[in-house]
Amino acid sequence: MQLGPVKTHGRTQNVVIDVDTGVDDALALLFAVRHPGLRVHAITCVAGNAAVEQVVRNTLTVLEHADAPPIPVAAGAARPLIAPPHDASHVHGRDGMADLGLPPSPRKPDPRHAVELLRDVLRDAAEPVTLIALAPLTNIALLARTYPEAMQRLERIVVMGGTASTGNATPVAEFNAWHDPEAAAIVFAAGVPVTMYGLDVFYRVGVAAAGCDKLAAHEHRSARLAGQLLRHQLRTAAGEARTELGMATIGDAGAVCAVADPAGLVTAHLPVQVELAPGFGRGQTVVDRRARSGEQELHGMAAPAARLDVAIDVDAARYGDLFLSTILGEPGTS
Ligand code: RIB
Ligand code: CA
Repeated sequence: MQLGPVKTHGRTQNVVIDVDTGVDDALALLFAVRHPGLRVHAITCVAGNAAVEQVVRNTLTVLEHADAPPIPVAAGAARPLIAPPHDASHVHGRDGMADLGLPPSPRKPDPRHAVELLRDVLRDAAEPVTLIALAPLTNIALLARTYPEAMQRLERIVVMGGTASTGNATPVAEFNAWHDPEAAAIVFAAGVPVTMYGLDVFYRVGVAAAGCDKLAAHEHRSARLAGQLLRHQLRTAAGEARTELGMATIGDAGAVCAVADPAGLVTAHLPVQVELAPGFGRGQTVVDRRARSGEQELHGMAAPAARLDVAIDVDAARYGDLFLSTILGEPGTS
């Protein structure tokens, strides 16, 4: 596989990223700060894969390994709006970073709350900003409720979350939506265009073992960290860590690829509702793919639903190549 030089697909994009760093959030950050077509203005942290304090530590560690510019990193919500937090340590390790035992970063978090940092960045932005949300949407819902004028300055929100098919946290619900379904419902209905990069595409993008080994042996520590994290994906027991071809999934990083290179993603503009009721379905993103309305509409039982751009297909090889070539920073083979 011949990888071309890192390509920028059009204009440089201004982004802010909300994370619950975790293994795949870390892969996403390594990619985002490396890709020449993305300018990361802020990173906000929220409880999800790990406690928010650990998420902040992990995020600062990743930026240090990437020799990233001094991007402000702020802590946000320590728990969802309604339910208590439930981590994903079985997937990401006790520390959220595959228990690699990495040294703490000398970098310090921004003293502002995540919501204040987002408000300030959006208020001061001279160009459109895309929010890439790779975690439970608690911070973003708080932004929508606290500073709605700032929220409306967003050009688009690309959400890694939800599913139009099978879940992971539950049989029908994806972890980020399940962790804070009220927050997802608020964000989806906020009036900002949303791309839903859900599990239907999330698990399909990966890097083969040979590429993981090439990264792990690279001279730069950011590539080595990516290789270590991807090797964790290959050996972890959690089924979500590998694609159907046995490659290491890049998870959240695929949503960032979709911002850097939108042509690799196929979406459909569909009504989506979030199930909030307690029980087996809580957190499910109910995507209406029907060609016509049904009896619930006939009998006036339908609730209003926001239309999102739901990812229904992805060029997995394209994004896997893009991720690998960007982290390697050079043409090459894997
Ligand atoms: O369901 C996958 C999502 O949950 C990813 O964002 C992963 O990092 C976890 O947060
Ligand atoms: Ca995440």
